[in-house]
Amino acid sequence: MTVNNKMNNQIFIRACYGRHTHRTPLWIMRQAGRYLPEYRLIRKKYTFNDMMHTPSIMSEVTLLPFEQFELDAAIMFSDILVIPEALGMRFTLKSGIGPVFENPIVNENDIEKLNFKISFLKNIFEGISKIRKNLNNSISLIGFSGSPWTIACYMLEGKPSKDYGKIRALLNEHPKFYDLLMTKITNSIISYIDIQIDSGVDAVQIFDSNSIFISNEQYTKYSLPYIKTIIDHINTRNVPSIYFARGISNIINPIQTINSNVIGVDWSVSLNSIRKIIGDNISLQGNLDPSVLLCSDQVIKENVKNVLKSYGTGNRHIFNLGHGITPDVNPRSVEKLIHYVKSYSATYKVP
Ligand code: CP3
Repeated sequence: MTVNNKMNNQIFIRACYGRHTHRTPLWIMRQAGRYLPEYRLIRKKYTFNDMMHTPSIMSEVTLLPFEQFELDAAIMFSDILVIPEALGMRFTLKSGIGPVFENPIVNENDIEKLNFKISFLKNIFEGISKIRKNLNNSISLIGFSGSPWTIACYMLEGKPSKDYGKIRALLNEHPKFYDLLMTKITNSIISYIDIQIDSGVDAVQIFDSNSIFISNEQYTKYSLPYIKTIIDHINTRNVPSIYFARGISNIINPIQTINSNVIGVDWSVSLNSIRKIIGDNISLQGNLDPSVLLCSDQVIKENVKNVLKSYGTGNRHIFNLGHGITPDVNPRSVEKLIHYVKSYSATYKVP
């Protein structure tokens, strides 16, 4: 399918490029996750890693939300931590903790040893082809990767952390080894994304969830250039690029130089204030506070209206949450959310 065809069929892709849509497209970060009882049932039978690396399960889980919800994009079921796996590291998901690596990076030698094996990711590529075959052509398939910074945080820390200080210590003490690590991760991500696109994803999102763990000054010098290299590469492939970072109000000026088609906006800032800064050449994705989905239907409705109103009139808004959906959300609230976005967003479109 060519980009032009996608542009005709897929409302999500149209909004990424700022083309006219009759309503605001929507999808939900972590839409194929634990808030779905069907996900929890599958998860009882397999480990998280087996689910990610078995094409039939990857496809089944990605498509689970579509059995009950009419969303405009699917996101492949996987994790940002498959890159450290392909570089030779191993993790398991420990309940109550999260991902824990057997062999976190402790010294320069560990960085030099990292060796990217694309073959480790082959089942993911097979999974993508399967999903694309099973997914209606009008629905976009989003591929993704973590940002080099966010991935490196986990590789050094070895598990979730309150402040991810080890990576900043490496950066300040040994900038050359920091650069070697970030370059290895960046090159791996580019190869990974290239084959995601060859296998059938329609757009690529870079998750920079740990962007809040670097100072603004160091972000511009030590994280942004690697992200920019990746986004520049995606932009040569004629699929839209989406950059999601947390705390974006602090780094919105450097973020504009990344040249992504879409910026994901976290829930801590209004869409309106970001739009005022960036203007109308970049699309915005977001940004309902995920905790609103724990509230009554009336509160969900009001907040959906507020997000739509905050963006205002135009074609460059993609509705989403301002971070991932939490496991305690009732799927019926998601149904309501979708209904409200579809009912009210047409008001903000001009033909
Ligand atoms: O959005 C989607 O539905 C697609 C799948 C997806 C997952 N992780 C599945 C997952 C995506 C896009 C991610 C990205 C990811 N993974 C990020 C960036 C986005 C964000 O939420 O900030 C990060 C930081 C990770 C690393 C990671 N993976 C952590 C910290 C955890 C444990 C915490 C948690 O949310 O459970 C995971 C596990 C994980 N990744 C689960 C899922 C569905 C839970 C698995 C389970 O327990 O069954």
